[in-house]
Amino acid sequence: MSQHYSIIVGSMLGASEYVAEALEAEITAKGDTCELHFDPKLSDINKASTWIVCTSTHGAGELPDNIQPFANELQSTDLSDTKSYVIGLGDTSYDTFCHGALSMASILKAQGATLLSEPHLIDVLNHPIPEENAVEWFKDTIVA
Ligand SMILES: Cc1cc2nc3c(=O)[nH]c(=O)nc-3n(C[C@H](O)[C@H](O)[C@H](O)COP(=O)(O)O)c2cc1C
Repeated sequence: MSQHYSIIVGSMLGASEYVAEALEAEITAKGDTCELHFDPKLSDINKASTWIVCTSTHGAGELPDNIQPFANELQSTDLSDTKSYVIGLGDTSYDTFCHGALSMASILKAQGATLLSEPHLIDVLNHPIPEENAVEWFKDTIVA
């Protein structure tokens, strides 16, 4: 049966958007369907689809501005029907490596969502083309 994914993107400089687009290409090539959300709003996102939250970290361990309102919305939402992956982009030269993605994972779990795997954290210092690493990981990890 074909799967439907919602890719929810947090990005300041565009790297996470490239990752999201590469995953979309991979998903559609498999015959599954996918919607990208670059300006995520809960009302636009199907809670029964499989989510892939793909976000960088900025500031001192903070979420990018475009996904912050969505993170706030989630904190008053029951997500017990939602299954999600989390992919983080960050830079290990910061003490707060991928704290944005980790905080999204904590919020999802606290609201009852099922995390289909541990968050996948990509260090952009080691992976200058993070979408290649993300697609490889996704192919190895995908459960449905
Ligand atoms: C001002 C600034 C602050 C950053 N702060 C962090 C941080 O706290 N933790 C981290 O892991 N990466 C941090 N990064 C690295 C970014 O997360 C990384 O460059 C990422 O690839 C950016 O993805 P984006 O283009 O989707 O925003 C920071 C980058 C900038 C420019």
